[in-house]
Amino acid sequence: MNQRDKDLFLDTALLAAKSASKIILESNKKIVKTYKGLTDLVTATDIESETAIIDIIQSNYPKHNVLAEESGKILNESDYTWIVDPLDGTTNFVHNYPFYGVSIALFHDNEVIVGVVIELPSMNIYRATNSSASYCNDDLINVSGTNKLLNSLLVTGFGYVHEENWQKNMKLFKLFTDVTQGVRRSGSAAIDLCHTASGKVDGYWEYDLSPWDVAAGSLIAKQAGAMITNFSGEKFSIYENQVLVSNKKLHKPMINILEQII
Ligand code: IPD
Ligand code: CA
Ligand code: CA
Repeated sequence: MNQRDKDLFLDTALLAAKSASKIILESNKKIVKTYKGLTDLVTATDIESETAIIDIIQSNYPKHNVLAEESGKILNESDYTWIVDPLDGTTNFVHNYPFYGVSIALFHDNEVIVGVVIELPSMNIYRATNSSASYCNDDLINVSGTNKLLNSLLVTGFGYVHEENWQKNMKLFKLFTDVTQGVRRSGSAAIDLCHTASGKVDGYWEYDLSPWDVAAGSLIAKQAGAMITNFSGEKFSIYENQVLVSNKKLHKPMINILEQII
């Protein structure tokens, strides 16, 4: 694959994410359509957004695979898989809490090669490829330089199922709150990753995410200088259930806290 192909993939991801963002911003029917769990909402807008994204991807790349949150996997025996979260932060969206977005990534040869996240309603567009820097709109972004937990602001998230990992994360929330300037729980993993990438927060951890939550944001964070591993400091995979992202300087101190609980 040459750079030109990659730039075209990025253009498709941007086009699809902008079209989905328009649908989300113009939606006035924040109606909960179904529940995947007791508190795991799906609205008509999640579905409309996903349909628009898949239409654009398939009209440009009909032979590629697509893995999308609401419709599952469309398999075409291709080496390329588009990974789509049509609305990350649905609970926030339903409540008009202004922190949700769209996430689109392209996965090839065991790595994410293109990532686009649009933060809504602010319409900040984050993007990266695996051979470029990361940008927010027209600006280069980088992780923070904070080198002590005591000076840091962290972010985490909690899944919908209140099982063992959820309980462990409650304990971690307290442990990290005790040794930092604060921990936020904002409700969109894709944006949490982009905020780590752009130095608004210094680190992020979460259990039990899905590939569509982390694919695009993890590439944007990595290309902005972040370190990404599991909670023990081992290689990260978008298909595994732990993500730890930091500005590198705080990685070991964060692992020291995580290892008290995991
Ligand atoms: C959720 C958000 C949230 C995270 C949850 C995700 P959704 O995605 O990313 O921040 O804590 O684990 O499931 O359901 O709003 O697309
Ligand atoms: Ca999500
Ligand atoms: Ca979603």
